[in-house]
Amino acid sequence: MKDIHVIDSEDLPTNLTDNEHFQHIVERARGRRGFLKSGLGLSAALFLAGPLAACGGSGSSGDDSTSPGEPSLIGFKSIPISTDDTIVVAEGYRAVPFAPWGEPLFEAVQWKGDGSDDAAAQAQQVGDNHDGIHFFPFTPGNSEEGLLVMNHEYSTTSGRGLYRWLFGRDDAAPQMTEERVQKVMNAHGVSVIHIKRNADGDWEIQKDSTYNRRITASTEMELTGPAAGHELLQTGADSTGKIVLGTFNNCGNGWTPWGTYLTCEENFNNYFGTLSDPVPTLDESQARYGLTKGPTSYGWEQTEKRFDFVEEPNEPNRFGWIVEINPFDPLSRPRKRTALGRFKHENAAFRLSADGRIVIYMGDDQANDYIYKFVSANSYREGGDNSTLLDTGKLYVAKFEDGAASDAFMGTGQWILLDQVENPTLRLDGRFPSQAHVLVNTRLAADAVGATPMDRPEWVAVHPVSGEVYVTLTNNSGRKEEDVDGANPRASNLYGQIVRWREAGDDAAATTFEWDVFVLAGNPVKYTDRRDLASGSENVTPENTFNSPDGLGFDKDGRLWIQTDGNYSNAGEYEGQGNNQMLCADPVSKEIRRFFVGPKECEVTGIAFTPDSKTMFINIQHPGERGDSNWPEGGTSLPRSATVVITKEDGGVIGT
Ligand code: FEO
Ligand code: CA
Ligand code: CA
Ligand code: CA
Repeated sequence: MKDIHVIDSEDLPTNLTDNEHFQHIVERARGRRGFLKSGLGLSAALFLAGPLAACGGSGSSGDDSTSPGEPSLIGFKSIPISTDDTIVVAEGYRAVPFAPWGEPLFEAVQWKGDGSDDAAAQAQQVGDNHDGIHFFPFTPGNSEEGLLVMNHEYSTTSGRGLYRWLFGRDDAAPQMTEERVQKVMNAHGVSVIHIKRNADGDWEIQKDSTYNRRITASTEMELTGPAAGHELLQTGADSTGKIVLGTFNNCGNGWTPWGTYLTCEENFNNYFGTLSDPVPTLDESQARYGLTKGPTSYGWEQTEKRFDFVEEPNEPNRFGWIVEINPFDPLSRPRKRTALGRFKHENAAFRLSADGRIVIYMGDDQANDYIYKFVSANSYREGGDNSTLLDTGKLYVAKFEDGAASDAFMGTGQWILLDQVENPTLRLDGRFPSQAHVLVNTRLAADAVGATPMDRPEWVAVHPVSGEVYVTLTNNSGRKEEDVDGANPRASNLYGQIVRWREAGDDAAATTFEWDVFVLAGNPVKYTDRRDLASGSENVTPENTFNSPDGLGFDKDGRLWIQTDGNYSNAGEYEGQGNNQMLCADPVSKEIRRFFVGPKECEVTGIAFTPDSKTMFINIQHPGERGDSNWPEGGTSLPRSATVVITKEDGGVIGT
């Protein structure tokens, strides 16, 4: 999320440990492999032209690139940047806005168009600031009808307690009221939307379908797994420590092979402040998770006591989880899976281990935070009861090292077990008397075991064939100067990178891996000397330049779709990069082409496909977050976050 009046809290590290920084490891790996021969410029040039150009293989082939004559995975022509207040898609494709904020899911409500809809209406309309998304077909392989499920991350503010668009233009209410807070809470959460293709091939919302559902910041849900019921999760309203109201700041997403949706609670800390004066000192956990000292921008604590952490110190512990939702059962209670740890969850990407257990990869999006994986204790059973699979298993955190890797990969790594009994570091650390403490304060446990601080881990995606795992590290402007050395010309890492790894023995449950940098984003328009690391790796060109990769996903053919949530000024360091966008990469050749550009002041996020890969759903979040957009309706209308439905004019597979 980005919001000009809320400091970009994820840019500011709360991790003050001295765990070795990933950038140092890249530098050392470069040196070990003989690329760091002399001066800065030479090392940079060799780095860019060397390992990145040489390391090809996704998967077992290890091919350096697509063979001559072999068709590229990518069939469309790259498009130029755009700075217009519109959506642009590659030639031969059609992109149509769909299910914008405020769109009614039920006949009983209307969209008034000026933001004057009340809280009750918002509870029956599509929420705000669309993010992660998934399409669940009604029947296996059905590409005509299904449930579109999506996250509504937050609502953009323009000052303390003031919202940019939610209450219409010129929101000037000095105080949050119960009605205002309720409307904002109802604009958060998740939408489950029954959709169907009509005779013209266009997708339509099936209003009043019994499947249509809004899950909001007030919806009752359960805490399950090892920490459920623990005293750290008990509050005045819930002495059981097992029943929570709501989910919010739902960022990226995931899904499971048994047909459930995973929604990921990210910057929950921004919703917890206090009206107490003076503000008490934050304890270690509150500081590490970044609770607000004083009133919040969202203002919920002004009318809802549970968002004042002095009044309810354990309420923040009930957020920052991954929540499992069964979209096909509208009456089901969402379940917060404590076994997967508590942090600022970006998304959740699964793969089955060699013996059939479910493995979930997850990033914690904050400067200098970590990458995690959960490995279930039991195996997935197709057609069986998998409803408690995410409640028992092991949680690991990644440590990137510079050991000798095979092929052209750059280094090795290990998965460190975050288990209070089995890991002596945690067992002997007085802060973790039980596994519940490890799971509620996952960041503190990961600090203690020496995990590798990363440049803001955003989405993780698993290649459908090779099983290699890719992660966007969006940027790290918050990194301190002393964390980099002279050999690293990307001192503040404005552009971000995508790192990939493969598990030992190709088993998702392995405890060691090898890693590689797939693309170092950069700006060769501004930095024309390609020896400069700021120009990006060799697969970044003036034609495809971008910054701040965030959303990430593979289609079933193995194309990697990269979405950006970065600086859209198109000036200075970002000259020639235009509005936020979506690109497509070939994991083997590493070629990257621009496929789509969003409207002004938006981010592009969320990726879903119909089973035939002929319809793609993506989301435009926060168009006009600073005030300058009227997308999608144009004219003087309010900007609205919305889904975009992309199809190919010839009816073919997206990306071909
Ligand atoms: Fe909600 Fe890290 O993006
Ligand atoms: Ca954003
Ligand atoms: Ca994101
Ligand atoms: Ca982002």
